[in-house]
Amino acid sequence: MTTSCHLQALEAHLPATSLSNDDLAKLVDTSDAWIVSRTGIRHRRKLADTENASDLGLAAARNALATAGLAASELTHIITATCSPDHVSPSVACIIAGQLGAGPVMAFDFSAACSGFLYGLSLGRSLLAQAPESRILFICTEALSRRVNWQDRSTCVLFGDAATACVLTGEALPGVAPTPSGVGGAVLEDVICQSDGSQKDLITVGGGTSCTYRLGDSVQEDFFISMQGRETYKHAVRQMTGSCEAILQRNGLGMADVDVFIPHQANMRIIEAVGSRLGVTEEQLFTNLEQYGNTSSASIPLALSEALAAGRVKPGARVLMTAFGAGLTWGAALLRF
Ligand SMILES: CC(C)(COP(=O)(O)OP(=O)(O)OC[C@H]1O[C@@H](n2cnc3c(N)ncnc32)[C@H](O)[C@@H]1OP(=O)(O)O)[C@@H](O)C(=O)NCCC(=O)NCCS
Repeated sequence: MTTSCHLQALEAHLPATSLSNDDLAKLVDTSDAWIVSRTGIRHRRKLADTENASDLGLAAARNALATAGLAASELTHIITATCSPDHVSPSVACIIAGQLGAGPVMAFDFSAACSGFLYGLSLGRSLLAQAPESRILFICTEALSRRVNWQDRSTCVLFGDAATACVLTGEALPGVAPTPSGVGGAVLEDVICQSDGSQKDLITVGGGTSCTYRLGDSVQEDFFISMQGRETYKHAVRQMTGSCEAILQRNGLGMADVDVFIPHQANMRIIEAVGSRLGVTEEQLFTNLEQYGNTSSASIPLALSEALAAGRVKPGARVLMTAFGAGLTWGAALLRF
């Protein structure tokens, strides 16, 4: 039995509409200068009224299958990380499975908020350990603009919509088209996923059964994202730094052994604080939050796909990723290309 987990055919899909900081300054009392200085974010994408998280995920999934040279009928699993699904049920994974014509695959969503990509890699590795011949379509899709309170300036400036998809397999797929930089796929070297439910109230995304509305009621604040920004910031820096140190240490590695560092794209100040504690150099760091804001589970794979397209990840490169999100959840992972 193998426990190898190969990540291949990573593709992204972004909605067409982009909102600038100046656009948001027309909705709430904020400014481009405040948002850039506190977060580093300049733009974020917003899905159309006619789109849902599943539509973004479906587009990314179609791209990933085409790149992998796989038919939907060859898939064994479709798993989706999302904290902004179309519905509580059916799952986004089932909706996408139906639209792809995937057949009777195992399909489900899971919620690990912004740590979703790392949790999904860990889950994928476990599924592959059970059945190494599996072909897992792993989607991260978020429509957080639907859960943002557009009257709350402390949160509405932070988030954006995006989706990514990749294929996880026990062995490298021969048909996978390399990225423009000549890189095909990666092996998951290690992954750590952790949580602390005692801090559940620091970031919440509403819309579940705790919202006790009856037909005809208007939604209240609990329906939307709420966040205690300062406390969240401190936990994010502590946990992302700690999980990176732990994963490097248990693999006998140091930051000098890492070629590219891709942290969760939530906030430039958090990234800089984590980077300075770990000793990350400018050459190692990759960010794209300036363009997209915090896209939750899609944030790390979206950045990784852009780093690959930009030629920042060379064949043989080791990539260190770290995430933090509601739950609280956090983690780190090492990929070898
Ligand atoms: C959200 C965050 C940028 C706010 O920055 P901050 O320096 O902590 O700001 P505070 O929340 O203390 O607010 C300071 C002031 O700015 C104001 N403010 C908040 N958002 C604002 C905005 N978009 N524009 C202008 N002013 C704003 C606050 O109302 C407050 O005003 P007051 O002093 O008059 O009450 C910061 O806390 C943060 O990055 N937190 C982590 C967020 C995150 O990444 N979460 C996701 C993790 S997955």
